[in-house]
Amino acid sequence: MKALTVIPLKAGSAELSDVDEPPETDGPVLVETLAIGICGTDAEILSGAYGWPPPGRERLVLGHESIGRVLEAPDGAPVQKGDLVVGIVRRPDPVPCENCAVLEWDFCRNGQYTERGIKQHDGYLSERYRITPDFVVKVNPALGILGVLLEPTSVVAKAWEEVDRVGGRAHWDPKTVLVTGAGPIGLLAALIGVQRGLEVHVLDQMSTGVKPDLVRDLGATYHSGAVADAVPGPDVVIECTGVASLVLDAMTHVGIGGVVCLTGVSSGGHTLTVDEGALNRSMVLENVAVVGSVNANRRHYEAAAVALAAADPAWLARLVNRRVPLAQWQEAVQRGPDDVKVIITVNPE
Ligand code: BGC
Repeated sequence: MKALTVIPLKAGSAELSDVDEPPETDGPVLVETLAIGICGTDAEILSGAYGWPPPGRERLVLGHESIGRVLEAPDGAPVQKGDLVVGIVRRPDPVPCENCAVLEWDFCRNGQYTERGIKQHDGYLSERYRITPDFVVKVNPALGILGVLLEPTSVVAKAWEEVDRVGGRAHWDPKTVLVTGAGPIGLLAALIGVQRGLEVHVLDQMSTGVKPDLVRDLGATYHSGAVADAVPGPDVVIECTGVASLVLDAMTHVGIGGVVCLTGVSSGGHTLTVDEGALNRSMVLENVAVVGSVNANRRHYEAAAVALAAADPAWLARLVNRRVPLAQWQEAVQRGPDDVKVIITVNPE
């Protein structure tokens, strides 16, 4: 079967390869891949900056944002033939650490977790893949191929859970949230904010085009200037860019007792001049909390499924603005200025 493979840490090594059928050792559930979303992590892997091959192998099958249809499942399994499903990305470490032992692999403590399509375990960007029933999540059939948004939504569902838990250290009744970045992660974070009844502000660079329209149609407010001018003292900031200056601005401008949740991964190598004393002083005197958030466990996939089921399908459909067939995968990895979520279709229905 065909699969998009890459030699991790080697730029320009991606190719459409002929690979063996998925190994039985990956699990008894056989899934036909419908589509795979491409994100910043895939771009990093393709550029040779991130990723790990499976042990003893040179190439890794790419793809961690998936939507597929079950072809085979054991009798009595929670998913059955014909179900629309998404594969969970991370697998607990083999030790396991205290968190992986209780299925909170998103908080793995020893770094020995694996991630499909990213770290030491083949991804889902192949015609078919196998998986164990406990790592597959059923998606509302009404979502169809838009179920490909479940994995990025799980990442923001976890971020919101972190915000709640940290905010809940005192009386917590947030009213305003600033989301920095109007890419898929930012827009999905904003969607959950709106669903929670918050006043949602989203900041990005573009002043016209798809992103401002998507934000407005969600019932949120779009800003293209500075963090300081967007909204005074938001209760929550969800940072979805990893741009160092925005991270710092978020920490400086969040409201008293506010929570900043960092979800964007910075590339490093950017040195900013900061008045550390003033930053420390305001963070301490205002009880500001900054928390990082990565990945998602099953609970977050389930929360994400609820959020997507409650969203306007027409709005979600506009998020997936480009669909590229697997044979033309190169077009999917070239980003256009108005791209939000580009997906590669593998077995379109
Ligand atoms: C994925 C996460 C993963 C992270 C780091 C993200 O793109 O959505 O599941 O944990 O990359 O590898």
